[in-house]
Amino acid sequence: MNTDALVLMERDGAIAVVLLNRPKQLNALSTELMDELAGALKDLDADEEIRAIVIGGSERAFAAGADIDELSRATPIDLLYQRRMENWEVIRNLWTPLIAAVSGYCLGGGCELALTCDIVIASETAQLGQPETNLGIIPGAGGTQRWARVAGKAIAMDVILSGRFLSAREALAAGLVSRVVAKEAWLDEAKRVARAIAAKGPVGIRLAKDAVDRAYESPLTLGLEYERRALYLAFASEDAKEGLNAFLEKRAAQFRGR
Ligand code: CAA
Repeated sequence: MNTDALVLMERDGAIAVVLLNRPKQLNALSTELMDELAGALKDLDADEEIRAIVIGGSERAFAAGADIDELSRATPIDLLYQRRMENWEVIRNLWTPLIAAVSGYCLGGGCELALTCDIVIASETAQLGQPETNLGIIPGAGGTQRWARVAGKAIAMDVILSGRFLSAREALAAGLVSRVVAKEAWLDEAKRVARAIAAKGPVGIRLAKDAVDRAYESPLTLGLEYERRALYLAFASEDAKEGLNAFLEKRAAQFRGR
């Protein structure tokens, strides 16, 4: 493993673990780091062997936001030409389930990164917030929208306007994270969840992820229709035949993603 890289990547069977690696800057998301991250995730997404991806930082910080040093020198036109949002779109559009393993600071763009993932697992040390208003700016990678949709207007306004951080337990109660684990388990629990996902039929997992994502953007009737068609498509897969037969034959299913 190249330990100087801004993003460390490790494959472990059908899962991959991607760790942000700017410890001195609390994993602040520089343009270079975001380029590396999006590139690594895109490569993993194209690899059919990889069925779930964990994204983490360190015990001290998942990520403390965009790189403030870089932001302080950027002009609006720099932001435009750096095409920052393209990397975020790459991450948002990945097929492979993404699990954020959040320990310590998870702030600003770092929190937006966690909320772009499909599942967020938080250590009891996690602190989530969008403190951009302390800097005279606002969240720019979905923070205002995702907090409002997931946690509701009251918490979104409180956190974003006051700049306060939520504890892991508060984030759990607000629906921003799905599990809170002991300090030392922050990465292992995320890997365990990734392995559980990787053991299932890839066709079903992809269709299910896609259908849940639709719930964000569609009225209920359209979402239900979408889900039904996704189910029919799942039924057309070899994975579905294998999964159903394996249950009846009392054996472990061998899914092939077909
Ligand atoms: N960008 C660049 N460097 C950062 C950083 C960031 N977002 N966050 C922390 N660092 C650096 C600090 O400058 C410091 O570097 P030095 O040792 O060279 O001084 C190092 O990381 C350690 O940080 P602290 O000494 O501040 O550590 P602390 O434990 O006292 O405080 C903290 C931790 C509360 C996270 C504090 O560092 C902090 O408030 N960071 C900024 C958080 C923030 O405002 N994030 C939003 C960024 S803007 C954004 O994300 C924009 C967007 O979406 C559009």
